[in-house]
Amino acid sequence: MRIMELLCSLALSIQFLLLLASSLFTNCLTMNHSTATHHHECHQHESNALLSFKKTFIISKSASYNPLSYPKTLSWVPATDCCSWDGIECNELTGHVIGIDLGSSQLYGSMDANSTLFSLVHLQSLDLSDNDFNHSQIPAKIGELSQLRHLNLSHGNENTFSGEVPPQVSQLSNLLSLDLHSYPLEPLPYDLINNLQLKASTLTSLTQNSTRLEHLRLSFVTISSSLPHTLTNLTSLQILTLCQCELYGKFPIGIFHLPNLTVLNLGGNQNLRGMLPNFFSSSFVNINLGGTSFYDTLPTSIENLTSLNCFSISSCSFYGAIPSSLGNLTQLALLDLSNNGLEGEIPHSLFRLENLEYLYLPYNFFEGHLALDMFLKLTRLNDLDLSLNKLSLLSQNRAVNVTILPPIQWLGLSRCNLNGEIPTWLMNLTTLNHLDLHDNNLQGEIPYFLFKLENLTVLDLSGNVLEGQIELEMLSKLKKLTVLGLGGGNKLSFLEGNNTSIVTFPSQIQFLDLRSCNLVHFPNFIQHLQELTDLYLSNNSIKTIPSWLWNKTTLQSLDISNNLLMGEIPPSICNLQSLVVLDLSSNNLVGMIPSCLGSFSRSLHILRLAGNKLIGNIPQNYAKENALQLIDFSSNKLYGQLPRSFINCRMLELLDVSHNHFNDSFPSWLGSLPNLKVIFLRDNKFHGAIKCPLRCTFPQLRIIDLSQNEFSGELSSEIIKNFKSMTLSNTSHQVQFKDDVYQLQHSWVDLSLFVFPMHNKGVVMEYVGRQYFHYMVAIDLSCNKISGEIPDIMGSLNRLVLLNLSNNMFTGSIPSSFGKLSNLEVLDLSANSLSGEIPQQLTELTFLDFFNVSFNNLSGPIPENRQFSTFQDNSFEGNKGLCGFQLLKKCEDHPKLPLQEPDGDQDSESGSFFELYWMVILIGYGGGLVAGLALGNAFVGDVFRLLKRIF
Ligand SMILES: *[C@@H]1O[C@H](CO)[C@@H](O)[C@H](O)[C@H]1NC(C)=O
Ligand SMILES: *[C@@H]1O[C@H](CO)[C@@H](O)[C@H](O)[C@H]1NC(C)=O
Ligand SMILES: *[C@@H]1O[C@H](CO)[C@@H](O)[C@H](O)[C@H]1NC(C)=O
Ligand SMILES: *[C@@H]1O[C@H](CO)[C@@H](O)[C@H](O)[C@H]1NC(C)=O
Ligand SMILES: *[C@@H]1O[C@H](CO)[C@@H](O)[C@H](O)[C@H]1NC(C)=O
Repeated sequence: MRIMELLCSLALSIQFLLLLASSLFTNCLTMNHSTATHHHECHQHESNALLSFKKTFIISKSASYNPLSYPKTLSWVPATDCCSWDGIECNELTGHVIGIDLGSSQLYGSMDANSTLFSLVHLQSLDLSDNDFNHSQIPAKIGELSQLRHLNLSHGNENTFSGEVPPQVSQLSNLLSLDLHSYPLEPLPYDLINNLQLKASTLTSLTQNSTRLEHLRLSFVTISSSLPHTLTNLTSLQILTLCQCELYGKFPIGIFHLPNLTVLNLGGNQNLRGMLPNFFSSSFVNINLGGTSFYDTLPTSIENLTSLNCFSISSCSFYGAIPSSLGNLTQLALLDLSNNGLEGEIPHSLFRLENLEYLYLPYNFFEGHLALDMFLKLTRLNDLDLSLNKLSLLSQNRAVNVTILPPIQWLGLSRCNLNGEIPTWLMNLTTLNHLDLHDNNLQGEIPYFLFKLENLTVLDLSGNVLEGQIELEMLSKLKKLTVLGLGGGNKLSFLEGNNTSIVTFPSQIQFLDLRSCNLVHFPNFIQHLQELTDLYLSNNSIKTIPSWLWNKTTLQSLDISNNLLMGEIPPSICNLQSLVVLDLSSNNLVGMIPSCLGSFSRSLHILRLAGNKLIGNIPQNYAKENALQLIDFSSNKLYGQLPRSFINCRMLELLDVSHNHFNDSFPSWLGSLPNLKVIFLRDNKFHGAIKCPLRCTFPQLRIIDLSQNEFSGELSSEIIKNFKSMTLSNTSHQVQFKDDVYQLQHSWVDLSLFVFPMHNKGVVMEYVGRQYFHYMVAIDLSCNKISGEIPDIMGSLNRLVLLNLSNNMFTGSIPSSFGKLSNLEVLDLSANSLSGEIPQQLTELTFLDFFNVSFNNLSGPIPENRQFSTFQDNSFEGNKGLCGFQLLKKCEDHPKLPLQEPDGDQDSESGSFFELYWMVILIGYGGGLVAGLALGNAFVGDVFRLLKRIF
């Protein structure tokens, strides 16, 4: 489990995660339903009441989710003793009906607010779970059943009661268990809406009144508030499940100290913050905090949770090392620490947890070397996922005795530095259904035995250096395959063959990655993949898209970037209303962008059309409440103004329209977008002053690139003051890190940058990659006509890593406040008209790697200490009055060059550097898409895993 809606989908991912976790948790729990039936002649009026209750429903098989359901009320017939009826329990002495168990009874119909059921005032137990009440409300009269101890109105899928839970439930002061939960499975939780709402005030009175509660299950009931502290008074509480209740605020830590609490499930409450306490003793069996905003380190005292069976903190904001005391929890069967900020080595004590069945550690910063044979003690291991850390796994040259490897089903070893050929011991893992080896350095051909692992549902080999030919026919044994990843980095050729009609390819494929597979045609077999949701075909040589593709309305991701697509984008693309990701960038597409593309899909997060030959205006209409997070129209021939309806893109994090012909003033109005982090307007005809007419806040802005435009006038201090997110407050590094991790959880763009630092592309890449731990923070205003002095206040943007003001008309001196830009690594002020001396304070910039003040009117001595001794002469040339050891000769010999035109060719040195730099950043978020892809993979895999477990 891990995240990202598909990509984006952070949210989605969390849901997947959550779902998976939920299912595992359900597995962990053993629920006992005992229905004792006693025989005693029943009271006539109760018998009548039950019969009229029965009459208000019909029997419908589809009303119950449980496959073992059956119509219990069939045995309810007049003139028989109701105490003998199926599901009825009577008091042996009084004959009164005290228990009704109609769970999974295939009842369908609306619940009558005045139902005769509520005349059964002796009821102590009422179970109506897993029937279909046709979205009726829970009657307020439920509060009249004052003897109730057990009330179960839950549903295994979507709750069929809806509306508000009546406040009258809080009158049930004898309640021992209250179960209103559901686990919606379909449709996959994209726009999940809980059917039931529970007012915070009702929950509070409930906890005040029903103080003997032992079981409280409210998962998927919208509570939408913080949790009342009165919960900590429920000292008998054993089970508390509050998955996906839209809880927020601080979790009352006292709940962890409830003496008998065994199950705590808070999954999916993204805004619920909290920390783990110091545990002394506790009866916890299951703890699920997945997808919440719990944070901090894992306490060593976790070792006191000796009964702990399942522990999931996936997609939270935990950081620090795993305490080795975790290895003392010998009962652990499930340990899911995925997608946090955990680091350090994986303690060896974990490898002694012999009961471990599920071990998920992906998406952290674990490091060190592991050998597969370290896992051999974990003989029950079902699932092992070490993906996407900084681990190195030795697999090839150690003799792994595969006969004692457990019957593993899930093996996630992506980005584990695997080298050499695909290991042959995989051959023997015939139970394997999830094999994820993406992003390693595996070489050679794909061995044929992989295509014989018939249980595989997920096979992801993308991002390696595999070679050879793959023929569609080879896949014909993998009938269960739903995820196939062959692309990205490999040198494979995918061949369809001629007789595709007779090949029984895995038709259930939902996720298909054939990036860089030497395709020259759009593969025809894709037409027959009825369930396809994600299609990645980038980096091939495809020229045309068949029109049937526009009928594949199940598609959520469509990436055909870096191909040879020609012609116009057909408006029928807007049929794909489920799209989350659309990437057609780097092709030869011409014509206008279809105007429907702004608003055709409510779910669209990523829209990339960069690097084509598109002309005209960009779509003007962006629907309110759209989900767009990334819009990239860069490198086309688009013109006109930026559509003001961008203001409807409240989720927007990155806007890139660089390298076009846009002609507009500074879009200060974008400043009200609450999530906007990155703006690229480079190389257009934006003009006028960079200023905010009224107030603009840019609350999250981290990168702004306005270079190569026609901006003029003075740079106002006012706008710089607004860039609050470029200023690091006085909080400690740890708090910052926590915030960053927290933000990652909530932002697609940043997550991708963060989890996928650029790799193996040389020093510059690494250098930039490192930045993503703190986020790139950058201002590039180069190559404009901005005049006046550089505002002093720029020195307060102390998160800045890159500042480029070169090729403008700045006058005055270099602000000495720049000495406070303690994170600055790149400072380019070249080709301006700056005068005065280079402030000595700049020597405080200990991270400064690149510095250029050439071609100004600076004078005086070049500071000599620290970084400054490393900068070469070309950092300083073209300043008549400067002297320093770098310049000794050039001061005398070098003729003064004329100032360059702002939009002329850049100085080759700085120009190439910055092109490279920005290019790297672009690759960075491009890499994010790859990341998303990989993540998407994982998630699709999870869903299947999940479904498999549930059924
Ligand atoms: C329930 O009964 C009360 C009084 O008998 C009546 O006023 C009310 O309208 C009834 N409600 C419904 C939904 O039948
Ligand atoms: C608590 O329970 C009593 C008795 O059932 C009831 O009268 C009272 O209204 C309940 N209090 C709340 C706040 O619901
Ligand atoms: C817990 O219960 C005690 C007594 O029953 C009461 O005094 C206290 O206020 C309650 N605490 C909370 C947080 O409600
Ligand atoms: C906790 O559970 C134990 C054992 O079942 C029981 O004796 C005790 O009363 C419970 N404590 C509370 C506060 O309910
Ligand atoms: C475990 O609980 C005991 C008390 O039961 C406590 O003394 C000890 O400090 C706890 N362990 C840790 C590591 O905190």
